[in-house]
Amino acid sequence: MRIVGVIGAGQMGAGIAQVSAQAGFRVLLSDVSIDRAQAGLSGIAKQLNRAVAKEKIAGADRDAALALIEPVEGAGAMGACDLVIEAATEREAVKRAIFGEVGKVLRPDAILATNTSSIPITRLAQASPDPARFVGVHFFNPVPVMGLIELIRGLATSDATVAAVEGYAQTLGKRVVRANDAPGFIVNRVLMPMLNEACFALGEGVATIPDIDAACQLGLNHPMGPLTLADFIGLDTCLEITRVLFEGTGDPKFRPAPLLIKYVEAGWMGKKAGRGFYDYAGETPVPTR
Ligand code: CAA
Repeated sequence: MRIVGVIGAGQMGAGIAQVSAQAGFRVLLSDVSIDRAQAGLSGIAKQLNRAVAKEKIAGADRDAALALIEPVEGAGAMGACDLVIEAATEREAVKRAIFGEVGKVLRPDAILATNTSSIPITRLAQASPDPARFVGVHFFNPVPVMGLIELIRGLATSDATVAAVEGYAQTLGKRVVRANDAPGFIVNRVLMPMLNEACFALGEGVATIPDIDAACQLGLNHPMGPLTLADFIGLDTCLEITRVLFEGTGDPKFRPAPLLIKYVEAGWMGKKAGRGFYDYAGETPVPTR
């Protein structure tokens, strides 16, 4: 595997492009426009400059990684790739449209992967050119920092596809775990009930936002409290994944907390919206309740 295509130059796509280039892969990075793809590359350059300033990597390594990333326009530019990773927005219709476009140019031996955090792989595979060469490869945010990749096989994913993508993921220096195509896979199956429960606790007046966060951060030794993490992930994303768990299992233990639904309805989606459980207008986040 030499050339990796990344579709979507947002936070996840840019992170995937960055770690792939740092591992020596040539990367084609696309988005809906060449400007967005170029903006993704500028963000990667900023991250790598910061790493050079902190003396984490050498200037030459930054230059080598940046030289390997080529912004391209649209998913149809991925004809040269051995592996294409879709990291577009978490909407099934958008992903299906991308797979249709990539399918027109994908080589018959190339693999198509999706970075979905919750949409069933077997169902998405139906929109791909070949379900045997389709697989889920789930990165975590921030991609350069997080050490895990979940590899999810759909019902029709071939052993050869799993092995090839596992090889790629290991080359990035990440620990790879394999999961079957069940709602939420492993991490979100375990994580989302915790974040959702923190929303229940807040809604029921068990404690304040900073106390719920401090309790879990210090009492469980987590890097972030659950409400901070929910803001970081995006409350709309948390709600969406929780609904996938609820609907996919039919188990009431996964029902979304009313307060989480309310925040999303209010447009308070978390850090990216400037407000979630915290207000991000100033230097430091301020709890909203
Ligand atoms: N990109 C690249 N590097 C980043 C970064 C980013 N966006 N944010 C932070 N970092 C780096 C920093 O440069 C720093 O690196 P060094 O140690 O080499 O200097 C390191 O991460 C620590 O950063 P900070 O000191 O600024 O802050 P911190 O210690 O509070 O760490 C954090 C920040 C890494 C985000 C940490 O709080 C953390 O690990 N939080 C939990 C994140 C998490 O759980 N992510 C998974 C979410 S679930 C998901 O992604 C999947 C899904 O489907 C929803």
